Amino acid sequence: MDNEIFKSVDEYIAFRVAKEDTALQKTSTSVREANVADISISPVQGKMLQVFAAACSAKRILELGTFFAYSTIWLARALPLNGKLISIEIDEHQTALAQKNIDNAQLSHLVELRTGKAIDIFQEMINSDEPPFDLIFVDADKPPYLEYFKLAIKLSRPGTIIICDNVIRNGAVLDENATDEKVIGVQRLNNYLSTCNDIVATILQTVGAKEYDGMVMAVVK
Ligand SMILES: C[S@@+](CC[C@H](N)C(=O)[O-])C[C@H]1O[C@@H](n2cnc3c(N)ncnc32)[C@H](O)[C@@H]1O
Repeated sequence: MDNEIFKSVDEYIAFRVAKEDTALQKTSTSVREANVADISISPVQGKMLQVFAAACSAKRILELGTFFAYSTIWLARALPLNGKLISIEIDEHQTALAQKNIDNAQLSHLVELRTGKAIDIFQEMINSDEPPFDLIFVDADKPPYLEYFKLAIKLSRPGTIIICDNVIRNGAVLDENATDEKVIGVQRLNNYLSTCNDIVATILQTVGAKEYDGMVMAVVK
């Protein structure tokens, strides 16, 4: 079985439950126009995040790694009118492009973009007693994934859902002698999950329109 079946089935699913509207299509177009690799999540993954946000009636969402705001838009659409999504992005230019996509999706009243290193902004939030989030989506640089996860727990309450993308890396996590910092970063997180008593967690393998990968799905106890 080759990967074509996963892509075709992803399209089959997207056609039924994860159709992109004009704002999401324009967001993907903005990635192509910028001539950069599209590292956004897929429509079906976006819808999955939205389902999780709806399942926990999320009012407050935190995202690490905005990119062009594709996942931000899927998530923000699960929020009520008084909801809030904070998304962190290290690259100022990227934030400006993401803001345009959020404005175009008419979600500016729900979404706040913060520019800076995720680890610094996390720390600022903890220091300023930021109220806990209902859902946290981690999708920034991979080497500090374990640090992000531990900080995410600090900004959580019992029941908070924490989702971390790209933790299987085409199966490269199986290599115990890996030298790639991204692989080592997610291996550290994956290994930590079984020792962490603060959460109930699993890792879901993901196939489809994007590379073979996986997501940590955790709920804070
Ligand atoms: C995989 S992309 C995010 C994709 C986005 N969540 C989506 O699905 O549409 C990762 C993003 O994290 C940003 N990033 C990388 N290192 C970061 C850091 N230390 N702090 C904050 N953002 C970072 C990158 O600039 C990039 O835009």
